[in-house]
Amino acid sequence: MQAYRAQLLRFNAQGEAQYDSDGLLVVDGDPASGIQRVVDAGPYRAVAQRHPRVSVIHWPNRIVAPGFIDMHVHYPQTDIIGSPANGLLPWLEKYTFPAETRFCDPAYAAEVAGVFFDELLRQGVTTALTFTTTHPTSVDAFFNRAERYGLRMMGGKVLQDRNTPDGLRDETEQSLIDSEALLQRWHKKGRLGYAITPRFAPTSSEAQLRGAGELAARYPDTWIHSHLSENRDEVRWVSELFPATRSYLDVYQKFGLLRERAVYAHCIHLDDADRRVMHETHAAAAVCPTSNLFLGSGFFDHESADRFGVRYGLGSDVGGGTSFSPFRTMLATYFVGRECRDKKGVSIAPSALWWSHTGGAARALGLDGVIGTLQAGTEADFVVLNPKATPLLARKVERAQNLEEMLFAIIVLGDDRVIERVVIA
Ligand code: GUN
Ligand code: ZN
Repeated sequence: MQAYRAQLLRFNAQGEAQYDSDGLLVVDGDPASGIQRVVDAGPYRAVAQRHPRVSVIHWPNRIVAPGFIDMHVHYPQTDIIGSPANGLLPWLEKYTFPAETRFCDPAYAAEVAGVFFDELLRQGVTTALTFTTTHPTSVDAFFNRAERYGLRMMGGKVLQDRNTPDGLRDETEQSLIDSEALLQRWHKKGRLGYAITPRFAPTSSEAQLRGAGELAARYPDTWIHSHLSENRDEVRWVSELFPATRSYLDVYQKFGLLRERAVYAHCIHLDDADRRVMHETHAAAAVCPTSNLFLGSGFFDHESADRFGVRYGLGSDVGGGTSFSPFRTMLATYFVGRECRDKKGVSIAPSALWWSHTGGAARALGLDGVIGTLQAGTEADFVVLNPKATPLLARKVERAQNLEEMLFAIIVLGDDRVIERVVIA
């Protein structure tokens, strides 16, 4: 058993922030898996009394908080972050597809996977649902590195058998055989999880989408990961390719790709019928505001998503997104909230932004009670934050009157300098 004394931020089952200015987090290793879990947490005096012999590491003036969860990111796009284009489809053609073609080389894939995980950890991200490429070698590179670091990570082979250049396009039947083999190799190996990953409707044939849906039914605790209704030209293209469907979301529903643990990036140009279907099927949205602002895709409608009880959490969407930092993603989410409801705007509470990147993301991913809250029984992935990492942040935090003000100061002014340490279960 080991205990950590610091300021302590956790989330309860209602998604409310719980904060102890002098807190104690007690963790213990599971004898079978070796994974460290939270056994007790709360105010230092009360918790220490319950564990009189535990060894305590003290981090004065630091905040222990749940590791951040990135619900949507592309590791093979690490090197094309910040590549400007006139919208999604030109960006895919000019930068993304050529960059991803290189991942047939296992040495290159392993090198980029290393850079990617090091960057995630520098930014305090301890779990991510990640795109790879169509090449099985890119999937092995991803999981090999995640396993070495002991991280809880999800990913899978990208499926795209049409409207894709040579070198990246896969072949329908083989793509499904490869996906199942990789799934059997990696799913539930330690902390790893497999995601069935059709890139998006325009780059998969109906046969490939049908096969993906069949795999998803046969392996119901895997993830499904794709893109949905990001950009107006994309939505128009989908309606041309699938003229019989009511909406873009309807394509995925028709092929059995909506269920618990199905995660769709963006979900911007939806209507209320789509939102009702997402709510009823438990499919989740990965909200990626830095990407949506960078590519000019539009604004996620938080108010409508909340009204229909759509599950969602935050994602960086690097390389369309412009930062791996959870602080940048939370701040961009706040900006987008101001554009909601025909620009009347909502002002999203700082603790709600933080929840959407930790416990709320875990819940949307079907990992409630596993990660993201630091409640007893959850895995002990956490960050140690220095809330005074820069002079201006220190001034602002000293003047904070309450928890919300302190969290907002860190969201607005914080960056990787705030992330002093990352502890993996
Ligand atoms: N839609 C299909 N592929 C992609 C991608 O790589 N990035 C983003 N942002 N949208 C996509
Ligand atoms: Zn994406």
